Amino acid sequence: MDWGMQNRISQIIKPKTGRTVMLAVDHGYFLGPTSHLENAKKTIEPLIEYADALMPARGVLRADVDPGTSTPIVLRVSGGNSIVGEDLTREGITTSVEDALRLNVAAVAMSIYVGSKYEHQTLMNLGNLVNECERYGMPVVAVTAVGKDMVRDARYLALCCRIAAELGAKIVKTYYTDDFQTVVEGCPVPIVVAGGKQMNTEMDVFELVHSAISEGAVGVDMGRNIWQNEYPVAMIKAVRAIVHENFTPRKAMDLYNSEKEK
Ligand code: 5RP
Repeated sequence: MDWGMQNRISQIIKPKTGRTVMLAVDHGYFLGPTSHLENAKKTIEPLIEYADALMPARGVLRADVDPGTSTPIVLRVSGGNSIVGEDLTREGITTSVEDALRLNVAAVAMSIYVGSKYEHQTLMNLGNLVNECERYGMPVVAVTAVGKDMVRDARYLALCCRIAAELGAKIVKTYYTDDFQTVVEGCPVPIVVAGGKQMNTEMDVFELVHSAISEGAVGVDMGRNIWQNEYPVAMIKAVRAIVHENFTPRKAMDLYNSEKEK
């Protein structure tokens, strides 16, 4: 791997632990002003220093992220769909690699929808984006997005992750599932897990993160379960402790409880 590519990946996956806590704030690209992300600047500001990488789309990056930040950016570059549109799986590449370079990002991210009507289109998006990004040493993070009626089981996610890696993604973002090891074993590149909708309790989140890490994920790319929490800073600190310091869910809960008092 060339130096630039390796350097960009090392900005995201911290060499000291081989792990990462990415903070996802890209939801607006198809969900609009998601709850707690209506004012993205307000949400991002207290959290960004605890994130190993921030994942916004271009609009929020330009408007709401301090260009003086030392946190690397993973830029969402796919879209063209919406929650009320004809088909959520119909995505194209919305942001050029030239603009990603101008914005000085550490990686670009896009979604693939395996098994959907637009599977072919989104997989070709990935292949073409990787072709272009390789020229500049820019890593591509592939998100194995799931259409409305799709099952998130290990067999399906293993299929999606392997395809994403085979097409050239340098990091794959997917969901945690039972038998997650199968997903990890079949994927030759690092995997990060999304959090999904806000869970019932903090302990549920900590258990998910702990299981994902124990079963081979290199980290998380988490959004709602951090910034929709009543104490988002306490939440990201506790998630970091699991990812980088191997805290158990119980120890992470203790940390969350002590941090939320501050
Ligand atoms: C949407 C995304 C989101 O960034 C992703 O779902 C992560 O956020 P959350 O933890 O809220 O699910 O990639 O396709």
